[in-house]
Amino acid sequence: MKEKITLDLRCVNRTCKKGKLDLDSILQVRDDCIEGFLSCKYCNSEYLILDGVPLLVENFSKYASQRINTFGKWIVNCKSSRIKSYLKSEGLKIHGPTMSDRYEENSRWYDSYLHFRYDFPPGDRLLSLLKKEIKPDNIYKMLTDENLSLNGIGLDIGCSIGSSTFELSKKLSYVFGVDLSFSFILEARKIMQNRKIDNIEFVVSDATNLPFESHFFQSIVALNVIDRIDFYKLVSAVNACLKKQGKLIIFDPYDSVDNNSKDKLDSIQVRKKLESMGYNTESGDSYIPWILKVNERCYLFYFVDLVVATKIN
Ligand SMILES: C[S@@+](CC[C@H](N)C(=O)[O-])C[C@H]1O[C@@H](n2cnc3c(N)ncnc32)[C@H](O)[C@@H]1O
Ligand SMILES: [Zn+2]
Repeated sequence: MKEKITLDLRCVNRTCKKGKLDLDSILQVRDDCIEGFLSCKYCNSEYLILDGVPLLVENFSKYASQRINTFGKWIVNCKSSRIKSYLKSEGLKIHGPTMSDRYEENSRWYDSYLHFRYDFPPGDRLLSLLKKEIKPDNIYKMLTDENLSLNGIGLDIGCSIGSSTFELSKKLSYVFGVDLSFSFILEARKIMQNRKIDNIEFVVSDATNLPFESHFFQSIVALNVIDRIDFYKLVSAVNACLKKQGKLIIFDPYDSVDNNSKDKLDSIQVRKKLESMGYNTESGDSYIPWILKVNERCYLFYFVDLVVATKIN
């Protein structure tokens, strides 16, 4: 985590009013904190930085219990003794069932996003069959389209390995990518460093409890995530940090795979709900092709809807 973004991050303890954070860097490479803590000046909550990734989650032991294999690797691989003992003490708080998140390392979804993403090889069997009329990276590239007129500081919610965040960074002054998966954020940071991009930072955070102050962002995007997150909580969190007249861009196939959303959404309901929560929606529903390659013999094909919403106040 770049030292300078400490100023932009806020406490996610819901009983604290988004307190500013102090950085206690234990292991540092140039201006990048690799291991350390962010602590709230007001409520004293502490947030871990591991492998350069800030983990801004409200309940760390619960977060760890939901990705128990990843947690084990943190304890084995962390460098400083202070972080190791913090992790061990958090481990003692884990009681009851644990699980492995489907978006963490070695899971089916992690592997498909990591290895194939949208840069399929030229001889890809399915694309050749379709005469390459479908470009798998189409939806990411649309983010820089002049018609969307995105600008200012941006947020990419559920960014996974950052395919959309990297596109946004071509257009915006600075972009934050947030995702609940530590493994995805770690990978996104590696790609960012290899490409030497310096107007992006990636943070582990829950989309329904974002670590930013009010009116911080001019542009917020959520690509293929609203099926996984309670829509009302997501838009409330967006409202808490989007500027007046700021843009919220949603791309989604409305394929409710997880039951986190109370309602099953479609293109009409999404627009109606956004309008009832203080947005103007510009466009009617759309059918944009999107392919995800799960493995050599398995593809997912979706028609994704694009929703462009402007926050009224
Ligand atoms: C289908 S993937 C979409 C990834 C990316 N936006 C794209 O289109 O390539 C869904 C992503 O949402 C993330 N996610 C799920 N629930 C989340 C939450 N509550 N907060 C933040 N990210 C979440 C997952 O870890 C995963 O990376
Ligand atoms: Zn606080």
